[in-house]
This record gives sequence, structure tokens and C-alpha cells, in this order.
Amino acid sequence: MDDKKLDSVLHENRQFAPSEEFASTASVTPESYKELYQKSIQDPEAFWADVASELHWFKPWDTVLDESEKPFFKWFSGGTTNIAYNCIDRHLDGPSRNKAALIWEGEPGDSRVLTYFDLYREVNQFANALKKLGVQKGDRVAFYLPMIPELAIGILACARIGAVHSVIFAGFSADSIRDRVLDMEAKVVITSDGSWRRGKLLTLKNTVDTALEGVDCVSDVIIVKRGQGEPFPCHVQEGRDHWYHRLIDGLPIHCEASEQEAEDMLFLLYTSGTTGKPKGIIHSTGGYQTYAYLTAKHVFDLKPEDVYWCTADIGWITGHSYLVYGPLLNGATCLMYEGAPNYPDNGRFWEIVEKYAVSIFYTAPTAIRAFMKWGDQWPEKYDLSSLRLLGTVGEPINPEAWIWYNEKIGAEKCPIVDTWWQTETGGIMLTPLPGVTPTKPGSCCHPFFGVDPAILQEDGTETDGGLLSIRKPWPGIMRGIYGDPERFKATYWSKWDGEYYFPGDGAKKDEDGYFWVLGRVDDVVNVSGHRIGTAELESVFVEHEATAESAVIGVPHEIKGQGLVAFVTLKEGVTATPELEKELAGFVAQKIGKFAVPERIIFSADLPKTRSGKIMRRLLRDIAEGRALGNVTTLADPSVVSDLQKHYEED
Ligand code: WT7
Repeated sequence: MDDKKLDSVLHENRQFAPSEEFASTASVTPESYKELYQKSIQDPEAFWADVASELHWFKPWDTVLDESEKPFFKWFSGGTTNIAYNCIDRHLDGPSRNKAALIWEGEPGDSRVLTYFDLYREVNQFANALKKLGVQKGDRVAFYLPMIPELAIGILACARIGAVHSVIFAGFSADSIRDRVLDMEAKVVITSDGSWRRGKLLTLKNTVDTALEGVDCVSDVIIVKRGQGEPFPCHVQEGRDHWYHRLIDGLPIHCEASEQEAEDMLFLLYTSGTTGKPKGIIHSTGGYQTYAYLTAKHVFDLKPEDVYWCTADIGWITGHSYLVYGPLLNGATCLMYEGAPNYPDNGRFWEIVEKYAVSIFYTAPTAIRAFMKWGDQWPEKYDLSSLRLLGTVGEPINPEAWIWYNEKIGAEKCPIVDTWWQTETGGIMLTPLPGVTPTKPGSCCHPFFGVDPAILQEDGTETDGGLLSIRKPWPGIMRGIYGDPERFKATYWSKWDGEYYFPGDGAKKDEDGYFWVLGRVDDVVNVSGHRIGTAELESVFVEHEATAESAVIGVPHEIKGQGLVAFVTLKEGVTATPELEKELAGFVAQKIGKFAVPERIIFSADLPKTRSGKIMRRLLRDIAEGRALGNVTTLADPSVVSDLQKHYEED
């Protein structure tokens, strides 16, 4: 975050307390909060055991927390359970049986409502279809689907039979799909004939076909028909590809839930880090379900009559924990929308809120900033009075956007929960509790139950401003990186001798004890809430035949939070042209996905390096942000910088 923004955040002293009306019915009240938090820290095992017993276990656990192989923590060892059973079957015996579990709206305006019993039937048929293809417990199943009900149904089907799901966001390119499918050795890939985005048809199956060229591990591909009536044209490979609707035709609607060990892998989700290769984050069954359940329950104060809408794609962790698992574990009604927020016009989200009387709305700061820019006339056209709670996630929210959200969307009556967490944490870690916490715009306030954060300096001493860290393990924590246990230890646990989890973020704590997360301190850039490793992009650039070297940095961006700027030096004899710039942009889209294409690609004869050859990114950031240049005396060739600066300003 740049200095100006940091300044505005840290001088933010306004406080917004929940109304008495909200607080009086909230799941956690100011009275219960202190006692619960204290218990969760002083006796975490007793606290989490109580929470876990609210869910169904086939066999109870022997130990709540086993730290013997730290940092590979084990929660609820010896117990067996099934998260799909807990999301669905657990609600079938009471009044929730015929309650809406999932309300889905397609971009063209088509819609579907699935009750808990409908979900039971569809998940079981899908599970039986997977079994029919020979999918067994522990097998990996990759999803490359748009936001349609079958994505939620499909991952629950995997969970039901103990297969490991891994959702690949549908904006990723064929190359990215291939990398992930190979890393996880997926047996089955599930995709669709197409998907709607801003009125255009995206042909997902074609992308999967390209991705799977020469890939041996995948034996079957399931194609969900998104097209109404006739499917969209796509190639169907005899023997490998199956239409979903044909596959499930006539299959039984019952499928026994597999008794999963608490530590059995539930899913893998790939995320970017500081090296060139995305890592497969492992989440477990028993701990993850317990954490997703409790965080969803208290942070969103879920009530039986709520219509809860999380706008995140299931391709990211937010969609896993707070569109599918967390709310369903609580028996809530979840809304899912397929398309863009500005199709057919900028009022689409508010039209949906009015149409389904959404009461809880969870989105990202980047979306809020876009709504602000589009103007107040859009939300003003719709009745948003059903809303009672708002949330944000994915990046720091600037106070201006927070205030706009509070006034224009929340009508100053909805608490706002700014939730800080990560793919790796499984669930929300720092957050206000809506009936308890007076919020400050831009602050994610306080730790959730069982979370014990500290702000440390590099040497491990506590400070008010420095590196965010977490002291105690919590049930939702990742269990490792797929195929690379050492990298798990090195990335997250090595900084302070294995005593603290290091998330990679910088943070401050103010005089009232409020946490302010300021952004990444490593080479990870957060573009519209999408995490992009600069090393990953740099390695894509140098793969291109024209490029000798590249350095990618994150810069502040009005809407996206951060944008990417790439500095590229070309090989001898290659000329910098606008065409080459376009080609490189296309190359990034092909290798990773369109969302990773930098805002600017700047060709430069050289990059600023220290005498030992290390690229000085700090200087590149100074140049990009038009700041006075810091110390350049360590540069091997100081003239590089003035050339670059000239280039940057002229471009
Ligand atoms: C990174 C994690 C967690 C779901 C979405 C992103 C940043 C996330 C906040 C917030 C400030 C935030 C952090 C974090 N981040 N939420 N409320 N305030 N920063 O998941 O892709 O794993 O990214 O997003 O930098 O480390 P992710």
C-alpha cells in the first residue's frame, strides 16, 4: 500500500457500533463474546470440541489437537465424519428439508432453486456417477466450471464419496489447467460446454481439450450442458467424454456418505506464491468443516430466514468456505450468480438483491470501488431494504469505499464485516462480529475465536506495526502443500523457528487494539482480489523467445487495488514494438489467464541491479509510483534508473 493510502487508513478514527436492534438478536452478543473468546484461547481443545460436536460424526475423535508432528497439526484424530452429510443430510429431518438451499441466477436471467432435499438428490446422483466412472476415495477430481449449481453439487458429490476436489477458476488458461491437472494427477475433469459472461459464450470444453492434450492421468471428462435445449457445439471424445445429464440418467438418488477420517484430504486449491510454481493447498475434513461452520455462523450471524449472497467464484477459497460449505453447514439459503456485475447493465447486482430479497451480502473491495465509480443511480433504482449485514474480503478496503458501502448499500443500518483470511487459513481469521464490534472503516478489527495473532518484527519481538503472525493452530489451517511438505514448513513456519504461522502480510495494531492489514510483504500482488505471484509472471515472460529478463511489480490501482507493471528487457537484436507488447500480453493470457495480463509492459534496455546482480524492485516501485528515488548507491549501473524513469513517464 502506498504512503498516502496508509496515512488515510491510519488516521481513520470513526467508529460504527451495531444498532441495538441488530445486537439484541445476534448469535454472539457483547456479553457472550468475552467469555467465549477467553475460553477459545485458554482452553482451545474444549472450545473446539464443543463446536465440532454440533456437527455429525460417525465416530467421535480420540484427541482434539495432536501437535506431535508440528507444524503438521492434526485435529479430531480418530474421528470419522462426512462434510457433505453435514451440509445436507443433517438438515433433512426437520423443517429445513424443503427449504431453499441454493438459489441460482444465470446471467441470461434463467434461474433455479434447489431445496435441501433437491440438493440431496442431485449430489447423490452426481456421486453415483463418479463411482460409475471408477472414482474412489482419495482420487483427485478437477473442476473447470462456470458458476452453475453443478459446481456446488459436484464438489459436494466428491466430498460424499471421499474423492478430493480441486476447482480451477474458469478464467485460467489451458496451460494453467494442464499444470494443475498434472500436479494433482487428476483422474476426472468436470467442465461444461460453455458459460455466459457479459452476454458472450465462453467455450470452456474447448479449453479443457487443449489442456488435456498429451495428459495421461485423466481417464474421463464430464461435460455439464449449460446450453438450454441443444448443447453448445463442442467436441465429444468417444470413450473419454460423457454428458453429465446422460451419465446421471436413472442413477439412484441415494448414495451412502463415506466415513472419512478427520484428517482425510477434502480438497486441494492452487494458489500463487513467491516462486514460479503455484502450490496446491491441502485442506482436511474434520477441522475445516468445524472452522467453516463456526465462522459462517457468527461472522454472518446466519438466521433461518436469511438469503445469503457471497459473490465470490467457487474457483477461489471464498467460494469454497462461504458460498458452499460454511452456509450449508449452517442450513442457510445461499444465492449463487453466474455472470458479471455489469450485465446487462451496472445495476445487475442490485436487481438480484431486490429480486430475491437478499439479506446478507459478501463481496470484494474491488467490486465496491467499481460500483462507486458507476454511480449512485444504480443502487438507488432498486429496493435494497432487505439487506441487514454486509461483508468484504480479499484486500484492504479503503475508508472511502467502506463509507460508500455503508451509506449507499447498507443505508447506514447494516454492520459491515471486513474479514481478513487466506486460502491457507481455510476460514476467516480477523473480523468484527456484527452484533458486538464497533467497526472502524478499513480495519478488520479483532481475531475470531481461537485465533491468537501477534505483530512481530523480523527478529520475533512484538511491535505495533510489522509482520502479521498467528500463534496457535486453529482447526481450519491448511495441512500442507500437495507433494511438497518442505515448502509448507519453509514458507509458513520457518520465520520464527516454527512457533508462529506467517501469512505474508504486513499489519498494524492501533491504540484500541484494532488490527489493520496493510497488504503483502512478499512478492505477491493482489489484483482485484486475485493473488498473482510476480515470480510466476516473470518466468512466463522469459519463456517467450523475445525476452531476456523481466521484473514485475504491483502498483496501486484505483479499482483493482493493485495493478501489475512488467519491465522487460529484450534479447539482442529484438526491437521493441507495440506489436511485440501485444504479443507478450497474449502470451501471458495463454500461459496463465487474461486476469494476469499487466496494465503496462515497459521495454527497457536494462534493469536496476545491485552489484551482486539482484534486481532492485523497490526502485522499480519508486519509479512506477513517481516517488523520489531512494538510495541508488548500491546500483551496479546508476544510469539505468534515469533511463527507466524517462521511459516510464513517456510511455
Ligand atoms: C490475501 C489472501 C481470503 C479470501 C480471498 C483471498 C489479502 C484478504 C483481506 C482483508 C486486507 C486482505 C491478504 C491475504 N486479504 N482479505 N479483509 N483485508 N487484506 O484469498 O487469494 O488466499 O489471498 O488477500 O493479503 O494474504 P487469497
